Amino acid sequence: MEEDLKDVLYTEEQIKQRVIELGAQINKDYEGKAPLMIGILKGCFVFFADLARSIKLQCEIRFLIASSYGFSSVTSGTVKIGTELDFEIEGRDVIIVEDILDSGVTLSILREHIASHNPASLKVCALLDKPARRQVPISAEYLGFTCPDEFLVGYGLDYAERYRNLPYIASLKPEVYS
Ligand code: IMP
Ligand code: MG
Repeated sequence: MEEDLKDVLYTEEQIKQRVIELGAQINKDYEGKAPLMIGILKGCFVFFADLARSIKLQCEIRFLIASSYGFSSVTSGTVKIGTELDFEIEGRDVIIVEDILDSGVTLSILREHIASHNPASLKVCALLDKPARRQVPISAEYLGFTCPDEFLVGYGLDYAERYRNLPYIASLKPEVYS
């Protein structure tokens, strides 16, 4: 598996530190509130597991599944939302938890979808942001790292459902996906 990787961009230690900082910021901003945190599967699963444990609030944890990539390294432009919103959004302080903001297509569709259910507030927490690839003007209120325009894997991020189990985040050698 490691022979497919180019560079390690964020080590386990760096990620751990940053996730604690994000959690601390959320704890401060939502003091006295009970936010509804919605993780976007599947890429968020490792990040959210760590982030959730740094949140000291009485939060509610939910998931939605969305995908736009299939077995490709570029967005297909169409986003599939695979689970219904079977929980109450209205009046809630919602935080969407995403692994990476790339073109922004997935997040903007999900954001609109959730916003249409009248939450009291709606913010986004993304571990990574790849601004060079943005097609839709959208940003995250809570952001881990701004990353270069490379295809990244690990810490939940996949290429064709592989590499999610790496404990750090690395770029993939272009010959692996081209
Ligand atoms: P967007 O709709 O183009 O912003 O894509 C967002 C989704 O694409 C993320 O939630 C990831 O699942 C996936 N994605 C985007 N960039 C990468 C990457 O560099 N590595 C792995 N998955 C990525
Ligand atoms: Mg993916």
